[in-house]
Amino acid sequence: MPLILGIETSCDETAAAVVEDVHEVRSSIVASQHDTHAPFGGVVPELAARDHVERIDTVIGDALAAAGTEPRDLDAIAVTVGPGLAGALLVGISAAKGMAVAAGLPLVAVNHLEAHIASNSIEHADFVPPAVVLLVSGGHTLLVHLTGDRFTVLGETVDDAVGEAYDKVARFLGLGYPGGPVIDALARDAGPGLLDLPRAMMDGSYDFSFSGLKTAVVQAVRKADARGEHLDDAEVAAGFQEAAVDVLVVKTVAAVRDVGVDRCGVAGGVAANSRLRERLESEADSHGFALRMPSPGLCADNAAMVAAAADARVRDSEFDGLHVAAQPSLRLDGVWTRTRT
Ligand code: KG4
Ligand code: ZN
Repeated sequence: MPLILGIETSCDETAAAVVEDVHEVRSSIVASQHDTHAPFGGVVPELAARDHVERIDTVIGDALAAAGTEPRDLDAIAVTVGPGLAGALLVGISAAKGMAVAAGLPLVAVNHLEAHIASNSIEHADFVPPAVVLLVSGGHTLLVHLTGDRFTVLGETVDDAVGEAYDKVARFLGLGYPGGPVIDALARDAGPGLLDLPRAMMDGSYDFSFSGLKTAVVQAVRKADARGEHLDDAEVAAGFQEAAVDVLVVKTVAAVRDVGVDRCGVAGGVAANSRLRERLESEADSHGFALRMPSPGLCADNAAMVAAAADARVRDSEFDGLHVAAQPSLRLDGVWTRTRT
């Protein structure tokens, strides 16, 4: 029954969590930096690193206290080593190494993308390979085939990540940062009229493209303004969301069918999107595949998923040494699936 402290600082959340045996989240603390980055409409790497430095000790201390755990009770420390912002990753890695040395604990280096996928395993004991996973966040948009032994990336975005498109559209409309939750809420309240926007289906591949959609939003709003017909924000938000979700859903269903699996998972910050969840649920019903999604609170960056991703390696005593380094461009292709399910 490994008891693992997870640490996550790859982007703009400083997070620590204590998780027992994948499924029992004893504590999960997430200190968001949204207020720091909001004035800039996106994450500023130097400010992210500085905020992590200021908060990491408190966040780890709070996670241990909330779990009623002392470092000596732990079996290992799991830390995100990439992909992500180099300066931000280094803060979590340094904290993890310091604690590992001080408490005599082994260290496990975790791939952030593998951790997002593992977020599905926390609440769903039946989320087992083979499966297809749609991983959608501010930095990534991937369709992944999860087999018994490795991850295969079926397709990914060739330009913006879908969360990045949400953030850029929200910034253009002056709706604040992060854009996803605001656009989601606005679109939910929109009337029946929504802006009709193009969908980049990238036929014949599982790749995605979202920068054209963002540009189409900007042009539609500017043209309407030039005609003196200001478009309602909700109508724009709903049109953008419908187009983005359509592409994600169509490609995910195609991947599930083509690869021939009957299980599908969703992960990453955009997996909290209400329209995406609703559309995928209805597709799962009509096509007869099992859909597993983390609760909204486990979709965005957190450290419980980092601890969960390390569980199998801790059981097998597959530890990393103190030499682990930040790997900002770490990929998922070919990584062995060690996520215990
Ligand atoms: O996974 P995450 O916390 O960080 C990365 O690894 O990137 O994802 C953050 C992204 C942001 O772009 C945010 O706008 C988006 O997830 N997001 C949403 C929603 N909640 C967060 N996008 C659409 N709908 C939401 N409800
Ligand atoms: Zn993430």
